[in-house]
Amino acid sequence: MQFETLPGFREFYPESCARRNHVFSRWRQVARAFNFLEYDAPVLEPLELYIEKSGEEIVGQLFNFEDRGGRAVALRPEMTPSLARLIAAKANSLKRPVKWFNIGEHYRYERPQKGRLRAFYQFNVDIFGEPGPAADGELIALLCQTLQAFGLNQQDFKVRLSDRDLWLLMLAAEGLDESGSAQVLGIIDKLERTERAKTVEKLVAIMGEGAEGFLERIEVAIAIRDFPTLRAYMENLPLEGDLASQAQARIADWEQLLRHVEAAGAGDFIQIDLGIVRGLAYYTGFVFEAFEASGEGRALAGGGRYDALVKKLGGPEMPAVGFAMGDVTLVDLLDSKSRMPAYVQRPEFIAIIGGEAERDAALADAAQLRAVGYQVEYPLKIQAFAKQFKAANQSGARFALIYGSEELARGAVKVRDLASGQEVQIARDQLFARVPDLLAAGLS
Ligand code: HAM
Repeated sequence: MQFETLPGFREFYPESCARRNHVFSRWRQVARAFNFLEYDAPVLEPLELYIEKSGEEIVGQLFNFEDRGGRAVALRPEMTPSLARLIAAKANSLKRPVKWFNIGEHYRYERPQKGRLRAFYQFNVDIFGEPGPAADGELIALLCQTLQAFGLNQQDFKVRLSDRDLWLLMLAAEGLDESGSAQVLGIIDKLERTERAKTVEKLVAIMGEGAEGFLERIEVAIAIRDFPTLRAYMENLPLEGDLASQAQARIADWEQLLRHVEAAGAGDFIQIDLGIVRGLAYYTGFVFEAFEASGEGRALAGGGRYDALVKKLGGPEMPAVGFAMGDVTLVDLLDSKSRMPAYVQRPEFIAIIGGEAERDAALADAAQLRAVGYQVEYPLKIQAFAKQFKAANQSGARFALIYGSEELARGAVKVRDLASGQEVQIARDQLFARVPDLLAAGLS
């Protein structure tokens, strides 16, 4: 009987694993360049952690079940609630700003389709303890640098930047209270994927008669693409008193954020797009998503500020901002742009062994070389010389180490450069010392 993988789950044959490792190593490299520390958390969590914290959409996609102890549990659909709990528990002893990253698998019961699976990896990067836009700016810069580390550039991706604070001010100017605003933001989140008439219908339920005009004003805001227009738009909002000064302060935050991102070399990737509001429940301020430059397809990454979550999980006030990048859409993009290197693992040495009598000497040398990290292929079965040479040539190894009875009688091993065909005899007790030279210069 043959079993297949579950829908939306992947197997990683060595070639796929090499591709995955390429992605992970670039992720790690950039996180370290920004001096983030790596952390981890459980894959299985109490179901409760995601209810409310993640929001409706993710809760509807949970892999959840009751464990044998009668606990309601769920496979993690995202890292943020677990991370916020880790931070909440140690908040007072952590040196701020806390800059942490993780690479891990996440699980969502979505309909498997292009860019969407049920098990996928995310690169989560978050900063805690810094309320100002410098933290948001640092993360957007890190996001852009990560995609650039894969060889992607301005023709390949952009980061759409938006702001839930700004939306709340705009919706306050429309006379909406907190709960009305939350409902409208939910509708804006789905705007791109919903027929206009359906959107109007949903808005009528909140706004009554004025829904059509209201939607037109929303559409004007969503069409804004540059900062001067955005500033003018905000300055013209009919706001008074405290709300007016909040709007002014927010413009200043935008300026600071854009300056940071530009100075960090990521300015050209940014596209202001208030159509992004993010579906997850916890976002509070700037939000952003990275997309392929054409804007087609699912997001490469998404994130934003979530200043209230740590407190909700029992911690102190702790401003937070972060994002996650997924491996599925990223690898699709890298493949389509031919930016995925072909990884072929080749040993540095392959042993060719005359017979049983020579086996132990070959294995001793291999062990010595392997112990310091050289890649050595050692034949598990001794075959005819000709067959072994053929296999050696096919292996892609740089050198064959040939253990024949004559060489060994002289305490030597024959080293053959498999590219040039040149050979030298080296005393076995000299082999180890000669290896760096051999690898650097080859035999010609
Ligand atoms: P998210 O937008 O739900 O955010 O996911 C972030 C990224 O994970 C997406 O842009 C996408 O690349 C990938 N992703 C999500 N679902 C799937 C799926 N079913 N299949 C393949 N890839 C997927 C979050 O998860 C937030 N927790 C990010 C965050 C971190 N916010 C603050 N810190």
